[in-house]
Amino acid sequence: MKTLKLALLVLAVMFLAAQFVQPARTNPPSDPAHSFQAIAKPTAEAVAVLDRACQDCHSNRTAWPWYSRVAPASWLVARDVNNGRRKLNFSEWRLYGEEMTRIKKGEICEQVKTGKMPPAFYTPLHREARLSPDDIRVLCAGQ
Ligand code: HEC
Repeated sequence: MKTLKLALLVLAVMFLAAQFVQPARTNPPSDPAHSFQAIAKPTAEAVAVLDRACQDCHSNRTAWPWYSRVAPASWLVARDVNNGRRKLNFSEWRLYGEEMTRIKKGEICEQVKTGKMPPAFYTPLHREARLSPDDIRVLCAGQ
């Protein structure tokens, strides 16, 4: 019993200590003129789907949820957002030229068609991000 209590105490102290290691939760300011919407001119339907299902990890407009403030979830969320933005950032589309836009649109279609995006762990917490066959058709239009 004593060992159990000690173990729980150690865990509690570790949990509290972990809260001091806070990752940066950034939403860097970005010029709307540099966005995917402004440059690649997707349809309004496509924008609506991307806003609903992708922008948390693929734009500078992340809605950081409450659990992104609690370690160790905070570390996982920040890592996903950083990795997601690095691969595809709708707020920083000026980095991509015409050719890259074509490639990225193809990748988007591929990822949603194969069900890899949005990630499976994300949709139970964000039910609005689940994609219907229609949503997938919208994102794949012209591909
Ligand atoms: C919970 C965060 C999250 C959400 C929501 C999310 N993604 Fe991602 N996405 C990632 C991460 C992280 C990566 C990088 C994966 C890697 O490096 O292997 C990624 C990578 C990608 C890539 C690049 C794949 C590659 O092989 O380079 C595309 C395209 C993509 N996502 C599209 C989407 C689309 C479209 C949506 C919405 C339907 C979406 N993602 C929603 C986190 C997310």
